[in-house]
Amino acid sequence: MIKQVNYNNIINQVLLGDIRKTYEKIPDNYFQSIITSPPYFGHRKYSGEDLSQDEIGREKDLNEYIKNLTFCFEVIKSKLKDTGVLWLNLGDTYRKKELLGVPWRVAFALKDKGWMLRSDIIWKKPNAMPSSVKNRPTTDHEYIFLFSKTSDYYYDADSIREPHVTFSSESKMRGGRKHLGKKNGTPEQGKNEGNQNLHNGRWDQAFHPQGRNKRTVWEIPLGKFRDAHFAVYPEQLVETCLLASTKMDDIVFDPFTGSGTTGVVAIKNNRKFIGCELVETYQKMAQKRIDNTNYQPTIFAIKQ
Ligand SMILES: C[S@@+](CC[C@H](N)C(=O)[O-])C[C@H]1O[C@@H](n2cnc3c(N)ncnc32)[C@H](O)[C@@H]1O
Repeated sequence: MIKQVNYNNIINQVLLGDIRKTYEKIPDNYFQSIITSPPYFGHRKYSGEDLSQDEIGREKDLNEYIKNLTFCFEVIKSKLKDTGVLWLNLGDTYRKKELLGVPWRVAFALKDKGWMLRSDIIWKKPNAMPSSVKNRPTTDHEYIFLFSKTSDYYYDADSIREPHVTFSSESKMRGGRKHLGKKNGTPEQGKNEGNQNLHNGRWDQAFHPQGRNKRTVWEIPLGKFRDAHFAVYPEQLVETCLLASTKMDDIVFDPFTGSGTTGVVAIKNNRKFIGCELVETYQKMAQKRIDNTNYQPTIFAIKQ
């Protein structure tokens, strides 16, 4: 007899357990986007000793961490649609006063496994914790990597445009707005044909009325919901990734759910969510937050 699985039961649910086991409950080609922040190497302990073997980030050895984390993304890759993407937030670790370069090592390991690295984004934290270091700059950034499964992935650049800084469609620079929407409509007709930064040499791509294309440094303050979980990332950061990589009703996944920020943002924006969390206290906390979240559209895009 063929066992019927009702996958609807997992929508807006946080699965409890190690992602390397729970992934089996998820159908293939299911998510449009994965937005996640796994535990960083050697930073903190989320579980008790009973789960320490299953917990990512508690490995003694960096290579072991990279192997384990890469494996987590390997098992969930088939669950991601071919048009889907993975947004991976990672911070670095110092050992014996030396920076290990963990985010990039993980990124290279994922590339080796066939993920396409599309962008490295710097998340700059204006309210990062002060530090007492005197012989190097204080770290106030982390990485967000954008990976895709294929080169033909869904990406909505318009949903996350940012304000023009140097010029706008109103600016008085030579040519100005007269050239908007015209092929080769540059101040010096056609001069920019072949310029890789401009599509068909069109300045109107640069002067897009909804703002310029999102840049790779995102300045976003740390979120407020920090007491309940050690490492909550800000809703605005998740929302930027979400809007660019999903449409309404798409399913978003976070294999390392923590307090459930990805799920809360997904539901607020009328997307569906599936999560996974190893530690029961956090799984319950996240589920409660998600259950208490109603659809309430908020637009963070196009703002100063
Ligand atoms: C950095 S936190 C995520 C925080 C989350 N982004 C938020 O905003 O609350 C990483 C989470 O991954 C969980 N975790 C660690 N190993 C795991 C595993 N093997 N499977 C699933 N979750 C795991 C930890 O318990 C922790 O809650």
